[in-house]
Amino acid sequence: MRNNNINFIVITLIFFLVSCKKSVNTSEPLVSNINSVELNKAIEAKVDSLLSIMTLEEKIGQMNQYNGFWDLTGPKPEEGIAAKKYDHLRKGLVGSMLNVRGVKDVKTVQKIAVEESRLGIPLIIGFDVIHGYKTISPIPLAEAASWDMEAIKKSAEVAAQEASAAGINWTFAPMVDISRDARWGRVMEGAGEDPFLGSKIAEARVKGFQGDDLSANNTIVACAKHFAGYGFAESGRDYNTVDIGTSTLNNIIFPPFKATIKAGVRTFMNSFNELNGVPATGNKFLQRDILKNDWKFDGFIVSDWGSIGEMVAHGYAKDGKAAAEMAISGGADMDMESYLYAAHLAELVEEGKIDEKLINDAARRVLRIKFELGLFDDPYKYCNKKREEEIIGSASNHKTVLDIAKKSIVLLKNENSTLPLKKKGQKIALIGALASDKNSPLGSWRIGAEDNSAISVLEGMQKYEDNILTYTKGANVTIGETKFGIETKINTTDKSEFQNAVKAARNADVVIMVLGEIGFQSGEGRSRTEIGLPGVQQELLETVYKENPNIVLVLTNGRPLAITWADKNIPAIVEAWHLGSQSGNAIAQVLYGDYNPSGKLPMTFPRSVGQIPIYYNYKNTGRPTLPAPDVVFWSHYSDQKNTPLYAFGHGLSYTSFKYKNLEVDNTSSINNPEIKVSVDITNTGKYEGKEVAQLYIRDLFASVTRPVKELKGFELISLQPGETKTIHFELDSETLGFYDNSGQWVVEPGEFKVFVGGSSNKTIESNFELQ
Ligand code: BGC
Repeated sequence: MRNNNINFIVITLIFFLVSCKKSVNTSEPLVSNINSVELNKAIEAKVDSLLSIMTLEEKIGQMNQYNGFWDLTGPKPEEGIAAKKYDHLRKGLVGSMLNVRGVKDVKTVQKIAVEESRLGIPLIIGFDVIHGYKTISPIPLAEAASWDMEAIKKSAEVAAQEASAAGINWTFAPMVDISRDARWGRVMEGAGEDPFLGSKIAEARVKGFQGDDLSANNTIVACAKHFAGYGFAESGRDYNTVDIGTSTLNNIIFPPFKATIKAGVRTFMNSFNELNGVPATGNKFLQRDILKNDWKFDGFIVSDWGSIGEMVAHGYAKDGKAAAEMAISGGADMDMESYLYAAHLAELVEEGKIDEKLINDAARRVLRIKFELGLFDDPYKYCNKKREEEIIGSASNHKTVLDIAKKSIVLLKNENSTLPLKKKGQKIALIGALASDKNSPLGSWRIGAEDNSAISVLEGMQKYEDNILTYTKGANVTIGETKFGIETKINTTDKSEFQNAVKAARNADVVIMVLGEIGFQSGEGRSRTEIGLPGVQQELLETVYKENPNIVLVLTNGRPLAITWADKNIPAIVEAWHLGSQSGNAIAQVLYGDYNPSGKLPMTFPRSVGQIPIYYNYKNTGRPTLPAPDVVFWSHYSDQKNTPLYAFGHGLSYTSFKYKNLEVDNTSSINNPEIKVSVDITNTGKYEGKEVAQLYIRDLFASVTRPVKELKGFELISLQPGETKTIHFELDSETLGFYDNSGQWVVEPGEFKVFVGGSSNKTIESNFELQ
């Protein structure tokens, strides 16, 4: 109910905001000037003014996020909640909504917040725009394989443009969780296993989403998630316990999060897991000590879906009210879908259990971002129907995602130059249900994409008309309908179509088999204990192989797969992930050599699931090598090698590269190290090609043992056949040091090795000493 008094306050406030707007040019770049004292001061003044007229309930309202009425990305809320949501919107008790999309729907909820609530505070509209909105880019793990920061940034820009044109102004991305466990379904959503590469990618993605000007109508707020440790879930089972030491936390998990702060990220999401016995959502150490105090983060932290309430199941909070108390004390500013801040915070303040200062601080953080977005100037700035129609799915966006899709493909094996394919006079048998699948390439976060809208491999291959192409499925990957949220039933029995595949292979010069995971087999809640080719696909591969071994295996999947048999027997293997809307075109162009592959693995491929966790930056142990024949007492398996199937950084090209003349120039001292490294790289093959030159170091003896290799630099270069380029790297205290066990950054004197090469396991090396 409004009365004249309140209306007056609203009018006064609006007047104040408008006058503030005049004195501050809100169209100035915000993120790049994030420290611009003047702009920050102006925003703080507006926030102060607004906070001073808000009731406790309204402030708590800003800390409350509801799901829309349509898409669900977590467990279903209780019945009848929708009506309550409308009512809460009107009462100004909602700060944000997620999973509302499209100009029409966003405008509907925004209008209620702005025009029907007492203070008219606009909503911030969040969505999981992970790798595209409608025009879908490759899954993030695939993009990471490009090692191309410009392309990754551009992909995030396209996602931001389309999402913002659909009314969204906040994405729950990038996910920067490092993971060493291919069983965990969410590895598809991250940048792999390495903190250095992960940090560069995190930065590129934040800059792509947020741009230089957060108040522009084509940029959106990014969200670094999940803070922290989510990628280290025990046994790769999603949501499982995380128990790790400070060294791993500081040296492996935190760096990409820190990189997002450096890039100006404005929001964080906490995570479902507990970390060393304390759920991340109520974790003061993570959220208050590290993030808000040490790293001086002044944006806001949103909880993960229902994670405040889940602290009860964790055995940390005795009920919902205690969970709300722990979450706010722990530093979580916004409650996503637990309904617990809305239900209990006011009471907790009245009872003196929560200091109102905490509420003020959280509401301030949320309002700050709304001002930075310019939502108070124009709450409908993302709701332009014409823009929505023009931008979403545009030809230029498809061009961008095709480009990154090609760059994401990794050539794992290519014996006898099986690839590229000849463009004429070939009989090609294309086999595999995934070859004609137009849905799986979209991955498990497809948001505004229409089902079955990706270009399939079949469609991509059909564009090359001078060969004879025969297609047959050979076997279905799944049985029955596959939908988001529905348990996928894998075909483990139906081999009735195998014979069609054998027949097609019999007459072919070359067989292309597209095998792997469907789009919903990786992603949240989709952990697996077996990571070979699912269902009957392995048997299909072996059956076809008996008929015609000249096979190119194209893998489409969201995680590293253990494909040891294929590696031993199949001459050419291409890792094509889930590549998004333009998938089939990208794959066909690579197979035919119109694009020379340059991707490198961002995550180790194991030989078998029992090797997991397996990663390139492991520790040496006290017993690293076989001391003498027949000795068993060294660190190894009795039934499997220690080495991976495909190492981190591995990826071939249709041409070849030679590394030589590795030089290390070290004239510096320990106080200000500056090690200059140079190396010559020559294209020794017959195609023009791109190569990701990778630099690794090993600190041989340290107060805390260091990994056998650590990535500390990389460069993507392009070389004509016969051409040589010299590339340069520099190592300094930021790359040579590490966090010791007391959390201090230290650079220690002593001997280092330096390695440069085209993969973590194929390098040339030199050394230097820090004194
Ligand atoms: C996921 C988050 C996601 C959120 C909202 C959760 O289940 O863990 O990453 O942003 O849902 O959809």
